[in-house]
Amino acid sequence: MNPRLSQLHDYPFQRLAALLDGISPAAHRPHVSLSIGEPKHEPPAAVVECLADRQRLSEGLGAYPATRGIRELREAICAWLERRFGAELDPERGVLPVSGTREALFSFAQAAVGAKPDPLVVLPNPFYQIYEGAAILSGAAPHYLNAEADNDYQLDFEAVPDTVWARTEVLYLCSPGNPTGKVIPPATQRWLIEQAHRFDFVIAADECYSEVHLDEDRPPTGLLRESDALGNPGYARCIVFHSLSKRSSLPGLRSGFVAGDASLLERYYQHRTYQGAALPVHVQQASALAWRDEAHVRQNRALYRAKFEAAAPLLNTAFDARLPDGGFYFWLPTDEDDREFARALYRDLNITVLPGSFLGRESEAGNPGAHHVRIALVAPQAECIEAVEHLVDWRRSRC
Ligand SMILES: Cc1ncc(COP(=O)(O)O)c(C=O)c1O
Repeated sequence: MNPRLSQLHDYPFQRLAALLDGISPAAHRPHVSLSIGEPKHEPPAAVVECLADRQRLSEGLGAYPATRGIRELREAICAWLERRFGAELDPERGVLPVSGTREALFSFAQAAVGAKPDPLVVLPNPFYQIYEGAAILSGAAPHYLNAEADNDYQLDFEAVPDTVWARTEVLYLCSPGNPTGKVIPPATQRWLIEQAHRFDFVIAADECYSEVHLDEDRPPTGLLRESDALGNPGYARCIVFHSLSKRSSLPGLRSGFVAGDASLLERYYQHRTYQGAALPVHVQQASALAWRDEAHVRQNRALYRAKFEAAAPLLNTAFDARLPDGGFYFWLPTDEDDREFARALYRDLNITVLPGSFLGRESEAGNPGAHHVRIALVAPQAECIEAVEHLVDWRRSRC
């Protein structure tokens, strides 16, 4: 087997299961999971109906789907990108449907890495673990950039030495960030595009939380918008990743897309023809419906907003709970060992949260995920708020 496999780290949820193994949780309380970021709101009815259509289903099941995807879906995606980010992309060359962004974030590095000696993939720390696995298995070394509380969890890209940029082949951005909830400021995104040209690397911008934001009137910016603002013709060196999982509460559909620089996408397309992760045609038809509709996305956001508005004042009586710019996580400082915090919380209240150190890596400055836990507000509002109330009382009793 590939010796690089042994460099992969266990997934955070495996580590959480091992951490909690052997603990008997408070039996009088039902289990509340605040650990996993799996959207739980109702999927849009039109999508469910489309998938249940016997005729479409039977035709979809009887056809090998093409890697490039159906034109209807690519047009729906391009229209959405124009409405949402003002981006103008060619449905033939500027976009590719993918089977959820996870597989695409992973496989993109396989296609993009290999032209420089001693390559690096730069990624945030803490981070969505796929970026790191993608880097390792592509033969690059991960280079981590810490997101620390004293810099308001923003990454200090300007502190990265030129010697690192010179070896960089892919820069993964996550904006809004998982777990920090931070949006990378527009000027920083534009500066990074200039760096990508200067040092010949690709920016892979994971924007799968861009549609879950608290201020309805101020949606987060994205790399394509900043690319246009900079004047970067053809979105050169920029690729964005978007998903229906969070935007439309459809994590089980496995549907997303990549868009941007057509010359990069053409080569990535060739990779994907071998990889063979094309979406079934009926999934693509249902996805096109979802990208065309914004009403269900606004409703979805309203549900998250109501949870954050109720939870934040409560949490702030016992923690420094900052509202995220986007996404559905609180990234909560614990002031104590985050693993011990998670264990005790499970034992005493039967609530699971994700220790931040499982999402980060040790660096010279320590593990920037340590002393934090990630709390996902995906359960129904009443369940989330009751859990937060118990969490706050519990915390006070420990201080
Ligand atoms: C930051 C981030 N990127 C990508 C994904 C993958 O989402 P999907 O494969 O469902 O599109 C997730 C899922 O949790 C995530 O948190």
